[in-house]
Amino acid sequence: DKGTYPFYMLKEIDEQPNVMRRLAQIYLSETGEPVISDKLLNSMKQADRIYIVGAGTSYHAGLVGKRLFENLTQTPTEVHISSEFAYEQPILSKKPFFIFLSQSGETADSREVLVNVNAGGYESLTITNVQNSTLSREATYTLLLHAGPEIAVASTKAYTAQIAIEAILAKALGEADNQIVAQRFDVRHQLGLVATGMQALVDEKSKIEKLAKASFLKTPNAFYIGRGIDWSVSLEAALKLKEISYVQAEGFASGELKHGTIALIEKGTPVIGIITQEKTAGLTRSNLQETMARGAQILTIVSESLAKPGDTLILPDVDPLMSPLLSVVPTQLIAYYTSLNKGLDVDKPRNLAKSVTVE
Ligand code: M6R
Repeated sequence: DKGTYPFYMLKEIDEQPNVMRRLAQIYLSETGEPVISDKLLNSMKQADRIYIVGAGTSYHAGLVGKRLFENLTQTPTEVHISSEFAYEQPILSKKPFFIFLSQSGETADSREVLVNVNAGGYESLTITNVQNSTLSREATYTLLLHAGPEIAVASTKAYTAQIAIEAILAKALGEADNQIVAQRFDVRHQLGLVATGMQALVDEKSKIEKLAKASFLKTPNAFYIGRGIDWSVSLEAALKLKEISYVQAEGFASGELKHGTIALIEKGTPVIGIITQEKTAGLTRSNLQETMARGAQILTIVSESLAKPGDTLILPDVDPLMSPLLSVVPTQLIAYYTSLNKGLDVDKPRNLAKSVTVE
């Protein structure tokens, strides 16, 4: 039931702070330690490499997961688009462990990979919102997203729930392996900061609605740019804008623009920089300037501690590894309001289905 909301998507965006709190309650003990079964942790501990597999938004959540696992556990982690992995399987390490990310648990492309993984005798974990879904039943382990039903075709709260669980799991695995970074990573505190920060962002809706009207309503195209984890979020931000607002959008590694794509910048093209990582903040800012010199209209989504006068949207500070949980929220709202103000059916964009059960 949408209640007083015009569309499920907005309701689901608004639910995200509560989903974060719920996940902390379900997956963390009273002292803030991850509650993850020993069996799952032992399987993962034996792995020399983690392979994350997913499609669409779930693939994008995997890109963030790679950073979490590599930083907190030192386990090399690869992320793959399921429809590619299924028929172009990469050379596997000696002891691979597979993580399937899927809101629905029914995505045919991901299932095709799982069938191969099972045939190879490997262990796997499905992180999904749907108990007893196909991917959950067929994997060795399951962790549920507990995000509540996601009805809008555009995935929002499943993305942030997937990242939160990846953070908890990476913390657990890193600690099981005595990694100091993991011991120091206070995931409970971080999820608390994230929930409060998300609330502040969703309370700023009217500001984002105005921004969407001014910069996205009329444009045929747009770019989200960033480096590292911010690049990963750029891909998700662009996908949201494409699928519900029909704006041709690209998520781009900011340093790569000048190697060709900058030719697409015209007078007024919106270029949105996502800036949450100290070591690359200055570089992304110069890349934004390069696009401005070619006529782009530049906007920024920046963590508070890195903010400068003139920045467009400021995000409350959290651990840089958790920043996608906040930086994605304004981009979800930009896509939502652009679609709404174009008079489109936000929840049911053309040509798309909620769950893609064909390959
Ligand atoms: O149910 P899944 O997470 O496996 O679905 C994967 C994609 O089909 C899904 O994320 C899709 O990209 C969304 N429409 C994005 O908003």
